[in-house]
Amino acid sequence: MKTTNTMIKGLVLVGAILASSSAMASADLYKKCAGCHGVHGERKAMGKSKVIASMGEDGVKTALHGYKDGTYGGAMKGLMKGQVARLSDAELDSLAKYIATLK
Ligand code: HEC
Repeated sequence: MKTTNTMIKGLVLVGAILASSSAMASADLYKKCAGCHGVHGERKAMGKSKVIASMGEDGVKTALHGYKDGTYGGAMKGLMKGQVARLSDAELDSLAKYIATLK
């Protein structure tokens, strides 16, 4: 019993560390977006974009993947393609998750 408890505590700890390090990574990735979109995703970037903090995780995910593969965007989509081109699909997903938590 004692061993099982210790093992469970260990697993919970590892889980917490993993969860917080992935949140750190997306907060880090978001730093280069904040200049245009605002620290809380609250600004219309260059007066053109939607307020991304209110798009929801799925909305942001669709937009980011779409900019990368050329299926989404308005007049300034070329600029956003440059922002996401070098990010992996997993990084885009975690950015979307992170942005959805901003207010
Ligand atoms: C140099 C300014 C700039 C930077 C830096 C920037 N963006 Fe954007 N972003 C824009 C503009 C302008 C648009 C509108 C593009 C268009 O016409 O589709 C936009 C659009 C978006 C949209 C879709 C909003 C809509 O209107 O549909 C999302 C989501 C987004 N950006 C996320 C990000 C993320 C995440 C990053 C960082 C990896 C980032 N942006 C970096 C300027 C910027």
